[in-house]
Amino acid sequence: MGTYETLFAKSIQDPKGFWGEAAEAIGWHKKWDTVLDESNPPLYRWYQGGELNTCYNALDRHVESGRADQVALIYDSPVTNTIEKFTFRELLEQVARFAGVLSSLGVKKGDTIIIYMPMIPQAVVAMLACARVGAVHSVVFGGFAPHELAIRIDDAKPKLLITASGAVEIKRLIEYKPMVDKAIAEAHHKPEKCIIFQRHLVKASMNLGRDLDWNELMASAHPMGCTPVAATDPLYILYTSGTTGKPKGVVRDNGGHAVALRWSMEHIYGVKPGDVFWSASDVGWVVGHSYIVYGPLLAGCTTILYEGKSVGTPDAGAFWRVISQHNVKVMFTAPTAFRAIKKEDPKGEFVKKYDLSGFKALFLAGERLDPDTYHWAHDLLKKPVIDHWWQTESGWPITANPLGVESFAIKPGSSTMPVPGFNVKILDPSGKELGANQEGLVAIKLPLPPGTLPTLWQAEQRFLESYLKPFPGYYFTSDGGYIDEDGYVFIMGRVDDVINVAGHRLSTGEMEEVVSTHKDVAECAVIGVHDNLKGQLPLGLVVLKSGADRESEEVRRELSQMVRNTIGPIACYKETVVVKRLPKTRSGKILRGTMRKIADGEKYAMPSTIDDPTTLGEIETALKEVGYGTKQGE
Ligand code: COA
Ligand code: AMP
Repeated sequence: MGTYETLFAKSIQDPKGFWGEAAEAIGWHKKWDTVLDESNPPLYRWYQGGELNTCYNALDRHVESGRADQVALIYDSPVTNTIEKFTFRELLEQVARFAGVLSSLGVKKGDTIIIYMPMIPQAVVAMLACARVGAVHSVVFGGFAPHELAIRIDDAKPKLLITASGAVEIKRLIEYKPMVDKAIAEAHHKPEKCIIFQRHLVKASMNLGRDLDWNELMASAHPMGCTPVAATDPLYILYTSGTTGKPKGVVRDNGGHAVALRWSMEHIYGVKPGDVFWSASDVGWVVGHSYIVYGPLLAGCTTILYEGKSVGTPDAGAFWRVISQHNVKVMFTAPTAFRAIKKEDPKGEFVKKYDLSGFKALFLAGERLDPDTYHWAHDLLKKPVIDHWWQTESGWPITANPLGVESFAIKPGSSTMPVPGFNVKILDPSGKELGANQEGLVAIKLPLPPGTLPTLWQAEQRFLESYLKPFPGYYFTSDGGYIDEDGYVFIMGRVDDVINVAGHRLSTGEMEEVVSTHKDVAECAVIGVHDNLKGQLPLGLVVLKSGADRESEEVRRELSQMVRNTIGPIACYKETVVVKRLPKTRSGKILRGTMRKIADGEKYAMPSTIDDPTTLGEIETALKEVGYGTKQGE
């Protein structure tokens, strides 16, 4: 396999050779004409001319090569007390049948389909069936409110929408169907049909003529084979938060995605076909796409679909139970899930109840792994605990400790080395590359490796403006950080208005758009403040209109409800502080970064561009009055 150094050097010096070889691990309907099309920089396309089917590589190929009876998917749902296993043969049977359903409803290659489902096997079946017929799926996370679903419906313009009747959040029953109906009523684009999977938990009412029952359709469907698609055809669109209210539709193509994920399973996570890989995330996030569904299945691993949390389903031993019961070799989750366990079971008593001897490594991502959580998890598990950094846009890790190649000594706070293919650089604001230990803006030299976003859905200009134009020749990650003298990468956080709440990426700009529509709000800013459990939490600073005669307590409650109703409970917007004015620069830009530092009790310098320096003192006083401004955790 070669050392990390040789692999990394080859991936940068000879990307075509490197990714041409990696692509041999995938089954192609037709081989590519060129590994990397460089004819239209800064846009690059991988495996131009190639044809394949992602579902074929995830399922049929393993059935054909002798893995038919190996378990492909374990559905473990503590919230419904269910454990169900599907072999590759059984999963293929379900997926081929559902592909038949899609086809009977007129779905063709290139059509878009929205999937708004909880963590149930039918979500995986729906995704793979889309891939099988060449349709482009867009999975929307269940914690988003109807308005967010409506925005995605209008952007993706799906032919069909697939959903389930409901879900359970720890103990709270959530009905999906009323939210879907509300979203479709709000959206301008109307999907022709909705397919509803009725769960025993709750029965959805059906709209005559539009809604169809999953089970009835499956009962009469004919299994369908795979439709070959171009390597450069989109497999899915996944919406993620940008700095405005309009989310970005990250596009993933079929060819590069299959090659990169297959490669990552072996080289980064160190797993082989037949191993059990568990990603405790949600299919609505990129981690769920890449490492619950596609990555493990492409690699012939057994994957786990876990409908539960790290705590409360039923206790802080939930993760250890799943690891030991299903013989998980490698697990992936977000640091916040571990902080939740640490809070409930600080001494790790639950671990002692389970046999974790088959467990080899824990990978964490979604937010920075803080050194405290790293040490706690490592001391408890006595296994490698690996922080790795990536984004919805990259689709797979940009920096990691690549266990399958070489295991580097851990430096807490660092996500270790750039993964082969990712030429990570630190830039100053003028685009000059910085040296070791100099903190700046994190960028990746083009071309990006396979599997990364080729564009944004029907928004090429936005793609160029957001990622490629800020620093010509580089992809701009919007993260800040530095690389130390040994080449270890330290990611320190976003440099834009995106925040990270419990490993979920959210836009403060979007929350501001909601808050500012309140009739008593004259002006507002939403910032992300430190939280010991969730990493960050949104905090609104609002200036009320003069004459607003209501109690600020009432306004605060209403704002929290408005954000919950419009964006969703996942936004966790609960805190608002009413202030007299917001600090601004002379050109009128709100000084959000400085306010965040004040709220977190960090040192800050008086910005030279500030319009009126006394506003910062006012903010400091207002925040201190409600308990902000003293470093939490101290
Ligand atoms: N559907 C509907 N509502 C949802 C939801 C879903 N799929 N997921 C979360 N919510 C709701 C929660 O019930 C909660 O509602 P509440 O305000 O009424 O309590 C709210 O959204 C916030 O959820 P969350 O931030 O997840 O908090 P939590 O207290 O329920 O759980 C953790 C805390 C740490 C256990 C949980 O956030 C977690 O496991 N995070 C890991 C995140 C992750 O996997 N990220 C993906 C990258 S790896
Ligand atoms: P998402 O697109 O939801 O995966 O969020 C991506 C963002 O989460 C990145 O731009 C980072 O800001 C943050 N992030 C993800 N993983 C890490 C990590 N391991 N270390 C630091 N930040 C991370």
